[in-house]
Amino acid sequence: MTEREYQTPCYIIDEEKLLKDFNMLKDSLEASWNHYRIGYSFKTNSLPWLVTFLKEKGVMAEVVSDDEYALARWLAFKESEIIYNGPVKERTSFERALLAGGIVNLDGRRELDWLEELCDSHPEREFSVGIRVNFNLERLCPGETTMGEEGGRFGFSYENGTFGRVVERLRRRERIHITGLHLHSSSKSRSVAIFEAISSMACRLKREFDLDLSYVDLGGGYCGGLPGRPQYPDYFPAIAAVLKEEFSPEQTALIVEPGISLLSSATTFETRVLDVRDIGEKRYLITDGSRFQLDPTMIKSSYLYHFKLASPKEGRRRMERQCISGYSCMEVDRIFELENGPELKEGDRIVYENVGGYTMSLAPLFIRYFPDVYVRTNGELQKVRKRWTPKEYVQNCKLYGGKDDDTGSKLRNPE
Ligand SMILES: Cc1ncc(COP(=O)(O)O)c(C=O)c1O
Repeated sequence: MTEREYQTPCYIIDEEKLLKDFNMLKDSLEASWNHYRIGYSFKTNSLPWLVTFLKEKGVMAEVVSDDEYALARWLAFKESEIIYNGPVKERTSFERALLAGGIVNLDGRRELDWLEELCDSHPEREFSVGIRVNFNLERLCPGETTMGEEGGRFGFSYENGTFGRVVERLRRRERIHITGLHLHSSSKSRSVAIFEAISSMACRLKREFDLDLSYVDLGGGYCGGLPGRPQYPDYFPAIAAVLKEEFSPEQTALIVEPGISLLSSATTFETRVLDVRDIGEKRYLITDGSRFQLDPTMIKSSYLYHFKLASPKEGRRRMERQCISGYSCMEVDRIFELENGPELKEGDRIVYENVGGYTMSLAPLFIRYFPDVYVRTNGELQKVRKRWTPKEYVQNCKLYGGKDDDTGSKLRNPE
C-alpha cells in the first residue's frame, strides 16, 4: 500500500522502531538487574495488535480494571502473566488472580477484607500479595510530582501510618505473605531522580518493616524517545545502584510497568487538510484529525509534527499564522497555531509524532468513530484496526421497540 492509498485520519505504528525501543528496555534491564519482569500498562494503549506483539516478546499484562483483566485473558495471557493493580478491581477477578498465582497489588481496605475471607475459605492455600505504597514523593523531589504537596490518592499511606497497619494486619494470618511492593508514582519530570527516590523508598520500607520481598514493582512513568530526555539506559543503572543497598537480583525481581515510553516514539497520527478558510484576519485549516485524538486530556502546549505536502514541487509562500483545527464542532478543538509555516492547502497532510500513549485509549466516539490503525513493517502497511462504522457503534444496543436480542448490529447497512 503506498502513502496515498490509505485514508486519513489514521494512526501508524512503526514495528521496527517499536522493537528497537523494546530491545533497549530489555537490554538495559538485563545489564542492570537481570532478574526482572516487564508488565505492559494496558491503559496506555490496549490495541490488540500491540498487546499481542508485546505478549509474544514475553511481556506481562498490567491491568487496572475487571474489563482490562478480561481483555488480557481474551488475548490469551495466562492468569500468572497478569499484574492486577488499582483501586477498582472486582472481587471475582481479584480472587481468580490470587488463586491462580498472578501478581496482585492491594490498593484499598475492601481488598484486605476480600483477601482474608478468601484465605478463610481456602484453608489449604497460601496467598502472596503486594502492597501499593502511597508516600510523599514530592518531599524527596520537590516540584517534580504530578500532584505536588497534595500527594497521590492511590495505595496505603506510609506517612499517616496506614501502610504499617496493613502490614501488621496481613501478618496476623500465617498463610498470607507480603511478597511485593508496588510504588508507581506519577511525575511531571519523569526524571532519573524520581526513580532513585522511589527505589530508596522501597529500601526504607524493607528495612523498617523487615520485609522479605520477591519483587519490587516500580510502576511506569519513564521517558522514551524524546530528544534531551532520559532513556531506559539512564534509569536502570541508577535504580539498581539504590536498590542494591537492600536487595539483590538473586532474591528480588524488579518489575517495571512501562506505557507511554515504550510506544510513543513508534507511533504517528496522520491527518489531512479538508478545508481552508479566512475568518476576519485569521486563517483556519479544518483537518480530519481532532485534538481529542492527540491530546485528549487537553494539556499539551506543543506538538511534534511534519508535513507531507500534496504538491511538494510547488513553491509555497510562508504565512505568519495558521490555526490548525480539528473536525469536531467544539471551538476548543484547535490543535496548534502554525507560525511562519508554508501556506497549507486542501489535501496536505499533517503527521503528528510521538502519539502512541493515552491517545487511542482516551479518544472519544464524538462526531466521528475510531480511525484506522496501521502497522508499518519493512515499508509495508497492514491495517490492524479497521475504522469503526455505524455497525460497530450500534453493536450491543437495543433499539426502540426492539426485542432483547435485537441489537442494532443486526440491522442492514442501507447501502
Ligand atoms: C500503575 C501504573 N502502572 C503503569 C502506568 C504507565 O505509566 P506510563 O504510561 O507513564 O509509563 C500507569 C499510568 O498511569 C499506572 O498507573
